[in-house]
Amino acid sequence: MTIKSRKGIILAGGTGTRLYPITHMVSKQLLPLYDKPMVYYPLSVLMLSHIREVAIISTPRDLPLYRELLGDGTQWGMAFSYIEQAAPEGLAQAYLLAGEFLDGAPSALVLGDNVFFGEGLSAKLKAADARRQGGTVFGYQVADPERYGVVEFDPANNVLSIVEKPEQPKSNYAVTGIYFLDEKAPDLAGQIRPSARGELEITDLLNLYRQAGALSVEKLGRGYAWLDTGTHDSLLEAADFIRTIEKRQNLKVSCPEEIAFLNGWITRDALLMQAEPYLKTQYGQYLVRIANEE
Ligand code: G1P
Repeated sequence: MTIKSRKGIILAGGTGTRLYPITHMVSKQLLPLYDKPMVYYPLSVLMLSHIREVAIISTPRDLPLYRELLGDGTQWGMAFSYIEQAAPEGLAQAYLLAGEFLDGAPSALVLGDNVFFGEGLSAKLKAADARRQGGTVFGYQVADPERYGVVEFDPANNVLSIVEKPEQPKSNYAVTGIYFLDEKAPDLAGQIRPSARGELEITDLLNLYRQAGALSVEKLGRGYAWLDTGTHDSLLEAADFIRTIEKRQNLKVSCPEEIAFLNGWITRDALLMQAEPYLKTQYGQYLVRIANEE
């Protein structure tokens, strides 16, 4: 039996009501985060995991815009598929919609508005990818755990519980929006029932893995940023964070062209060609610099 490569899923659905009026006519995950569309950030996380086949899930209204922005993926040495989510019925629904695309492969689902940054992230992602059985998620300490799925650890770092948006959180560790699950995810997602808020909760799916003793929760420590983009203020703060890091180091965060090049998925000429239409921006000039540095 051949081992199938892990495939990526970006869930970029939702109505974006918390960002109204900005998101009245455009998908939240297409909004700019400083110098690039928000969806570039989660896409980059998949690329850093060395995942090349990715499905983008969005609303019937917005999916054509993603297609226009991202194309078929070949420009970055990847392959993109597009899947409509007719109604937003929870994160775990992504596995039902993507069942055919996954075709028995393990997956990494990332939420289209999640931004991750930090030294050593690639190694953590690759380790999660290498774990073929069960699932891996990441826990991150936040000030407002009640807004997220919350994971409770025992002193030996075993996972005791994961609870969605608990009123009385048992810890400050939120489950971040990237989920490495094995090939059983679509079947298991088919077993869960809608929650009180009418959604197929990712937390319920994770609990099936946990109860089977098949869930690892890795902590992302102090050196990491996991940023929120869910409100007007947090959107601006996240953009500011990216801008600060990029200006200081003169390096870009989550630049798909750069990652594709460094992964060896595209040639130097292809990188320069993609820089061409962007030359009026520092983004384009950056791509030229990267091409010339190697
Ligand atoms: C969702 C998940 C939650 C997770 C969060 C990460 O929350 O349900 O468990 O911690 O994403 O961003 P939602 O965006 O549905 O509020």
